[in-house]
Amino acid sequence: MAEERRAAPEIKIAADNAALNLMAVQEFCRCAEAAIAARNRFCVALSGGNTPRAVYSLLAATQRNSLPWDKIYIFFGDERHVPPEHSDSNYRMANESLLSQVPLPQKNLYRVRAELDAKVAAQEYEDQLREFFQLQDIRLQNNDWPRFDLILLGLGNDGHTASLFPGSLALAENTRMVVANWIKKFNEYRITFTFPVLNQAAEVLFLVSGESKAQILKDVLNPAGTNTYPSQRVQPENGRLLWIVDQPAAKLL
Ligand code: 6PG
Repeated sequence: MAEERRAAPEIKIAADNAALNLMAVQEFCRCAEAAIAARNRFCVALSGGNTPRAVYSLLAATQRNSLPWDKIYIFFGDERHVPPEHSDSNYRMANESLLSQVPLPQKNLYRVRAELDAKVAAQEYEDQLREFFQLQDIRLQNNDWPRFDLILLGLGNDGHTASLFPGSLALAENTRMVVANWIKKFNEYRITFTFPVLNQAAEVLFLVSGESKAQILKDVLNPAGTNTYPSQRVQPENGRLLWIVDQPAAKLL
């Protein structure tokens, strides 16, 4: 039954990175306005990495006085196991480019406290999700998962997304919402949403930019080989899957 509801991915190709940023901002605003009209709030999980930085900056520059930031609730799909001031911190990147630039109430921001022990930080974030989305303690029996209005994701060259890396234990996690995932190639933990959370979203938006992603994007979107990349397992069960990619990243599609 779930298979029938899984929408095929939509792919929008932007001429260049600037056009991708604009399309991403427009999609963010569309999702926000729809969610707020329907439920008087917009719950979004931001992605980390480099690609979204310019999107967040453009969002701040163009929507600072337009979006109802008091009705927007911001989470993170994953976080590196570093303090918030660390140069690798996804929170730091989002704070510099967006969060510090818009009138978002502090209470609407849910930062992963990645300065803590990784497993403690993951459990704390999971508890915050449970409370925010008013999930029952028996949520698993009810198959009760948080449903984000929008989750932003990126694509790594190894096919990872969020901090769901090939070969990592979190790929098999189907009961927890947030876990500390040991990433062998970085010799570090990362805190990440699990696939069930990603796949319960009303919309997942991948943002992929640059020629360096052309091969992995082709492999992920046109799977001819036997590889199953983590990003291919993002299949919203009852939601939209949208890829906004720029022409250089799309050159092999
Ligand atoms: C992170 C992200 C990660 C990222 C991809 C793509 O914490 O880094 O969650 O999944 O989206 O690695 O990163 P770039 O946008 O920098 O290519």
